[in-house]
Amino acid sequence: MIIPRLDRIAYGGDYNPEQWPPEVWPEDVRLMREAGVNLVTVGVFSWAQLEPAEGEYRFDWLDRVLDLLHGGGIAVDLATPTAAPPAWLTHRYPASRLVGRAGQVFGTGARQSFCPSSPDYRAAAARITEQLATRYAGHPALVLWHAHNEYGCHNPSCYCETSAAAFRTWLRRRYGELAALNAAWSTTFWGQRYGDWAEIEPARLTPTAGNPAQQLDFLRFSAEEHLANFRAERDILHRLSPGIPVTTNFMIASCKTMDYWRWADEVDVVSNDHYLRAEQADNHIELAMAADLTRAVAGGRPWLVLEHSTSAVNWQPRNIAKRPGELRRNSLAHLARGADGLLFFQWRASRFGAEKFHSAMLPHGGTETQVWRDVVALGAALDSLGPVRGTTVRADVGMVWDWESWWALELDCRPSVDLDYVERVHAYYEWLWRAHLTVEFVRPTDPPDHPLLIVPSLYLTTAETATALTRYVENGGTLVVSYFSGIVDANDAVHPGPHPGALRDLLGLTVEEFRPLRSDESVHLDNGATADTWTELITPRGATPILSYLDGPAAAAPAVTRHPVGGGVAWYVSTRLRAGDLDDVLRRACADAGLAPRDDLPADLELVRRGPFRIAINHADQDAKLPATGTELLTGSPCDGLLHIPAGEVRVIRTD
Ligand code: GAL
Repeated sequence: MIIPRLDRIAYGGDYNPEQWPPEVWPEDVRLMREAGVNLVTVGVFSWAQLEPAEGEYRFDWLDRVLDLLHGGGIAVDLATPTAAPPAWLTHRYPASRLVGRAGQVFGTGARQSFCPSSPDYRAAAARITEQLATRYAGHPALVLWHAHNEYGCHNPSCYCETSAAAFRTWLRRRYGELAALNAAWSTTFWGQRYGDWAEIEPARLTPTAGNPAQQLDFLRFSAEEHLANFRAERDILHRLSPGIPVTTNFMIASCKTMDYWRWADEVDVVSNDHYLRAEQADNHIELAMAADLTRAVAGGRPWLVLEHSTSAVNWQPRNIAKRPGELRRNSLAHLARGADGLLFFQWRASRFGAEKFHSAMLPHGGTETQVWRDVVALGAALDSLGPVRGTTVRADVGMVWDWESWWALELDCRPSVDLDYVERVHAYYEWLWRAHLTVEFVRPTDPPDHPLLIVPSLYLTTAETATALTRYVENGGTLVVSYFSGIVDANDAVHPGPHPGALRDLLGLTVEEFRPLRSDESVHLDNGATADTWTELITPRGATPILSYLDGPAAAAPAVTRHPVGGGVAWYVSTRLRAGDLDDVLRRACADAGLAPRDDLPADLELVRRGPFRIAINHADQDAKLPATGTELLTGSPCDGLLHIPAGEVRVIRTD
């Protein structure tokens, strides 16, 4: 089990008792018990309360909070408070301030306004982490450590002189010789050659597009600095508090700047924060995608939702409240896709500060609210779902996810500003979701065992990736690659020869010219599909054209091709088809892979297999039926043949 000292599905939220008078704390514990809460995250932003002046510690209030929680049978995920450096730190060590790309120095009054490379910040963070670990390692409430909060959320990169020096050290380690750096960064372009390491700067604001290889390296470096900070805290916690797992909350699919494949190798437990984009249609599909990606970085093992919201957030342009039943559907969709714990931001709604209009488990309106009733009902539901904990999800289809390719695709001066990494992944994911095929995300160099692998957008493709994908197809896999993939190497240099250099042999074609579309333009394919954003002039060189452009700048050229290689097949889709218009292509690819979409089920019925359970979430306004035999966990009723899932409801059936 991912939290050995917790014997149930984790349920709770961020608890910020420092925002409330101590008289409120016992009531918090009483209400937590009423809601079935068994785990709360404490102390995330409490540095200034714990260390009001440098080296002066106040733990009495936290002692009391932890004792109260323990007395109520509630376990603690204790946070290191290092995401909110106190004002004294910023003022005593001004070089620890965060500096933006244009040189702007950020002020106090928010959070994460520190330079991740600052030795002063690092030393202070290590000291408070040691203090906490020493004091609470033996506390009976403690079951999990929560390092920092959402690393790099507000300070992904710092551009100060300290960061510049650390970047140069990192580059020396990466390249050894300056000549190697000049070659990797292609500094013959615009006369950017460096004659001395000291001349190299972070990817600061430049009058026009900056060097893309420098920008990529600066992104890599910045992510490493945050990871180094995590490792430092984790190592202290492991040393002083052995046996208690350490986690930190990821922001998967929404945080572009952290490569969570790398992070996941460093944490004891993978955790994620997920917030719906309230105005996006069918946003439960994006939720499923984020949950599948979290499970993937967790290596298929169970993971935790450390934050999601009971209703509206406070930071979107329009903060839309959740619809009836949505809190339950969202939570159980995470559970279906491998989560063994569901926590919210936050337990009790704040009365003040920037987040006072954010929903919570206990809203401003108290217990006479629908949100509270939903929170209590979910706690009770999780009791019945206990047997699901610890089981693993079964997937059908592989899909590549790559942070570096995302970074590279969206740098300056691409053939179209409309190229969007996550949008492409989402379109393919959406079709699979509606076909009831579960996705296993994989690293580009690590194709899965599944018979179908989708590569939605892989602009940056290394030779190693191309080899791995070729082997996958040669060994019988069916591969679907979308446009503008296989174009550049790890330094954003175009692979030699015609596009798509890294993948042209595998795909059996060359792309003579990219033909992106105007913002209001669309084109038609000869199967009736409509596409927009992007077209290409393709010459098949072994591949068979399957669909062609009827109009637009690539009229009459192939739009979709199929190339048998070894025992498998490589498909190429050269234009932007939305999920519905991908239907024809993906059905043919599924047929090649021997996979059958579940056309017998309603498209809005989410269905996931986890261990011996099938979890069905009905997102439609009509009731749905699923052929199934077994016991339904939420109602406790037996089902012999047809499971009835009321509109907006969730059912979990044990089938063994
Ligand atoms: C998260 C953060 C929380 C809270 C929440 C609000 O990004 O970790 O502390 O700010 O957003 O949605």
